Amino acid sequence: MGVTIKDVAKKAGVSIATVSMVVNDKAGHITPKTKRKVLDAIKELDYRPNFTARSLVRKASNTIGLLVPDITNPYFAELAKSLETALNQAGYITFLCNTFEESEREKRYVNELISRAVDGLIICGLTSLETTIFASLKERRIPYLILDNRFSAENFSIHADDFAGGELAAKHLIENGHTKTLFVGSQNHYINIEQRYQGFKSIMDKHKLETNYLDTELTRVGGQKIAETVFKMDITAVFCSNDLIAIGLYDAAAKQKLTIPGDLSIIGYDNITFTSIVKPHLTTIQQPIHMLAEKACYHLLQMIHTPDYFFYKEILPVSLVSRDSVAAQ
Ligand code: RIB
Repeated sequence: MGVTIKDVAKKAGVSIATVSMVVNDKAGHITPKTKRKVLDAIKELDYRPNFTARSLVRKASNTIGLLVPDITNPYFAELAKSLETALNQAGYITFLCNTFEESEREKRYVNELISRAVDGLIICGLTSLETTIFASLKERRIPYLILDNRFSAENFSIHADDFAGGELAAKHLIENGHTKTLFVGSQNHYINIEQRYQGFKSIMDKHKLETNYLDTELTRVGGQKIAETVFKMDITAVFCSNDLIAIGLYDAAAKQKLTIPGDLSIIGYDNITFTSIVKPHLTTIQQPIHMLAEKACYHLLQMIHTPDYFFYKEILPVSLVSRDSVAAQ
């Protein structure tokens, strides 16, 4: 006989009712610690809950809602294109919504998408997890997953290994003799950007090196805005939390006749297409954009089609793409 809800309850040391509430996303009053125990037990035992009732009452529209912060950021453009392609191959049409990092707009779009009877939702770049969005989706039993920045134990999520990305950037700079560095993060608090910083800092700490920290918008303009401050700092290298910020620094450096990497070494994050177009070609951390999209599509469709499908997290590997924007000291 397969693993039952009883086995999960026993393994986690909780009641069957508690497991049931976690599985059915009705665990509002259950502590995060208990939820984690249940989710760990589910994973360890490979328990597959039975969601048959959900599939019986559902009528398919073959549409998926996709929320991204801003499609003009090439990272989200590439991600959206890969998602759309994968979903389309599976017979789905995608509704794309730009949220511009505005929580009211996020809520409005989710409600709109619900009323248009989407079969599922992929949510990228959410401003906060404290929204009523999840409650509405759970209430209506619409499968959804968080892609990219707002991963959490409570929601099904897929993201790249941001901590490892930060570590890779720090190691590369240290190998090239940089001891005076700066991390540029986001002015909005995002878990993935924070993880990049923590990974970067952990390596710097190991080498007993201090690193500076600055926040800005995750845009090219964001890079341009902080350039003056950056250029005045006593540093030899900057690790930007995305490629657009790095490109903004390139713009400002060119105006001031500063050379990259002669005057300042720069590492970006994402590996968008522009990184191999700008001069010098930008060294960056590659996010597996295509793989992120494939996995998101796979898991969401499993949730939609397989009544007893259950997963809660997937973390994909990143890699360093070494180009011409980091000089040896
Ligand atoms: O460029 C946008 C950045 O924010 C990416 O690094 C992505 O991970 C997102 O969260």
